[in-house]
Amino acid sequence: MHKIAVIPGDGTGPEVIREGLKVLEAASGKFKFKYETKVFDFGGERYLKTGKVLDDADIEELKKYSAIFLGAIGHPGVKPGILETGILLKLRFSLDQYINLRPVKLYDDRFCPLKDKKPQDIDFVVVRENSEGLYKGMGEFKDKGGKDEVAIQVSYNTRKGVERCIRYAFEYCRKRNKKKKLTLCGKTNVLTYAWDLWERTFNEVAREYSDIATDYAHVDATTMWFVKNPEWFDVIVTDNMFGDIITDLGAMIQGGMGIAAGGNINPAGVSMFEPIGGSAPKYTGKNVINPLAAICAAGMMLENLGEVKAGKAVEDAVIKVATSKLKSLAAGKMGYSTQEVGDLVVGNL
Ligand code: IPM
Ligand code: MN
Repeated sequence: MHKIAVIPGDGTGPEVIREGLKVLEAASGKFKFKYETKVFDFGGERYLKTGKVLDDADIEELKKYSAIFLGAIGHPGVKPGILETGILLKLRFSLDQYINLRPVKLYDDRFCPLKDKKPQDIDFVVVRENSEGLYKGMGEFKDKGGKDEVAIQVSYNTRKGVERCIRYAFEYCRKRNKKKKLTLCGKTNVLTYAWDLWERTFNEVAREYSDIATDYAHVDATTMWFVKNPEWFDVIVTDNMFGDIITDLGAMIQGGMGIAAGGNINPAGVSMFEPIGGSAPKYTGKNVINPLAAICAAGMMLENLGEVKAGKAVEDAVIKVATSKLKSLAAGKMGYSTQEVGDLVVGNL
């Protein structure tokens, strides 16, 4: 029995989660797995009412689950940073979800803003380190508000943290068994402490994976190649900040936030799956947001729970609906409502 903690969260989160759960239910009927869900109301609304973000007792409770299915965190009425660090990053850090796995896959050339790129050209996965780097929140102000103010924000990288991420990426690349090429994306020419550690670790670990070809690209060049030659990539491994940035670009070349999903993975603990777009306040409650990213996240969750066939079937159904039904992947332009898109996926499962 899979125990799934559901955090619909803010904005359009609840709308897309509803469709994800609909598809999950259909998949369980078809593939005969059992699961139960419990909904948690963490998010901006609860914060505004109670002043609570997420405390240690909540984390302990979530540790009892097989996986977490998250909608979106972010509320226009709350100052940026409070919910992000208090809920989303707290979940990732406290549950030691040290990998953020973000597949970038184009399902149909119609959805790609790049000229002449086809589905076979855009099919790679970003392995983003998810527990350290600039996200660690280390730093300080000196003379805050003064004319000599200094703001220091530290990128914190440990050998253990870097190595477990790089190892995961090599293993993932091997298991994926496509181009069998792992690219380290960094900035060795400027960030000479952090990226020295990353590069040394990468080269050392690479010796254990003679079947995987390795490559290196600076992060700025990586964004250029994403646009110019995305077909060069298979698996990319990078730090938290660079991974955050390049996966937004990745999402755009695969068709936008409506389709981009990710997993926050703790290989030995509780992992969390989410559409990577935000809470989209502008579209909230309108039944126009694209639920496919959340449905893809549910598919990734199933694979992670060992329901590999069901996960694959969910992705196949998404591909079918996206390629044969939807006019666009953008909110309000799909030719169908949020709920109708969920129904179409169920119908194609
Ligand atoms: C993401 C988001 C988060 C991040 C924000 C909301 C804290 O942009 O999941 O990519 O920066 O990791
Ligand atoms: Mn981001």
